[in-house]
Amino acid sequence: AIALSLVGIAIGLAGCDGNTTTNVGELEFTNPLHIPPLLEPTVDSEGEKRFTLTMQPGTTEFFEGKRTPTWGINGSYLGPTIRASRGDRVAFDVVNRLPERSTLHWHGMLLPAKMDGGPHQMIEAGATWKPHWTIEQPAATTWYHPHLHGKTALHVYRGLAGLFLIEDEESKKLPSEYGVDDIPIVVQDKRFKGDGTFHESMDLTPFGMLGDQILINGTYDPYLKITASQVRFRLLNGSNARAFQIGFSDDRSFALVGNDAGLLQEPVSLNRLLLSPGERAEIVVEFQAGEETILHSFAGEDGIGNGEFDLVKIVADRELAASAPLPSRLSAEPSIEASEDATVRKFVLTTESAINGKPMDMNRIDEVVPAGAREIWEISNRGWDHNFHIHDAVFTVLDKNGQPPAIYERGRKDTVFVPNGTTVRVAVEFGSHPDPETPYMYHCHLLYHEDSGMMGQFVVVEPGT
Ligand code: C2O
Ligand code: CU
Repeated sequence: AIALSLVGIAIGLAGCDGNTTTNVGELEFTNPLHIPPLLEPTVDSEGEKRFTLTMQPGTTEFFEGKRTPTWGINGSYLGPTIRASRGDRVAFDVVNRLPERSTLHWHGMLLPAKMDGGPHQMIEAGATWKPHWTIEQPAATTWYHPHLHGKTALHVYRGLAGLFLIEDEESKKLPSEYGVDDIPIVVQDKRFKGDGTFHESMDLTPFGMLGDQILINGTYDPYLKITASQVRFRLLNGSNARAFQIGFSDDRSFALVGNDAGLLQEPVSLNRLLLSPGERAEIVVEFQAGEETILHSFAGEDGIGNGEFDLVKIVADRELAASAPLPSRLSAEPSIEASEDATVRKFVLTTESAINGKPMDMNRIDEVVPAGAREIWEISNRGWDHNFHIHDAVFTVLDKNGQPPAIYERGRKDTVFVPNGTTVRVAVEFGSHPDPETPYMYHCHLLYHEDSGMMGQFVVVEPGT
């Protein structure tokens, strides 16, 4: 009976809030796009880079004259961009000045489980958490956000999230001048009340919160002036539930150069890509002097509540600095492949907010994975649309219902869209920080589903134990 009434809600929503959704009111692109500042570390005598992140409440003026209560990191909404290089030793003071406990998770990072910032690494109100690790993975656009079990949706929605860019020799050959030709684009949908406060019903739809307004890097109705002939955009879908079918209003093509977990081996030309919550894409776009275009989300068949949304207007300067041509070979990283005798693990997603029929239990270990294992995970969705994210791992999508994945889903990933009725197989390589006591998570990255129990736990152990 519950499932049937949920179907009713979903059908009801499809009319008003499904693929036909558009921005409420015409956008005029009046606000310069906020670029989250790069966070400067202090470097100790041994070369360790130490960063301070303070989670705090505040207010933000998204709409002129209206102050929205928000949460942010080192500011009132979102957090600074962290940039570090492969091989760096990094350390953090994560200070919790919120009125309640939270956590801070490094999504996409390969690191010891105790440093992961999942639901077990609680930071009480007033406390400071001090994770540290060595970055041992190729360049990628990763991100950080709270992961407090049952409250992740609300904490992210209020504004706690930021980018963490890993650089290496290969990534530096791409446009890399942060804020100039290397631009973060954090896409989030929100719903506001008349007084400017956030509508905070995390269970608004069967998928959770679907907003009707868009913020990019926390800016409403934004435009961006660019000054280079080629610009790299680092796209992050930082929304709770909505997927975006991203392209440009003039349908121009662009080069996809990387996705969640790193650079592609070669650039691929596209004019659309789908990003579900938690996924990232790095694209390089060519501009002519003086032209204007709008980064746009298109209504499509695939996705979660995806609809017509203008994201940000891009205005090219009358004179553009000529960019170096895009390398034809981006990365020499070998693709992720399962081992010959790979362990195959199966996960079934349903409407019940559980995986394999089991709701998340912080005291239960669901899977035990040998450090560095290369396995096949098979994720079958038998209800609603979901996606699937694995901590401390990088994967390639092998197939979806036996068919090759979309072009934009090739390469190194950590989150994959799993539409209703689809079985996705991924070849996944795990990190190598054994700790039989401390679990990592795998879960649907629709935050309301995750909070409702669509999450499981695995530990990484010494091979052969
Ligand atoms: Cu982006 Cu387990 O999370
Ligand atoms: Cu889900």
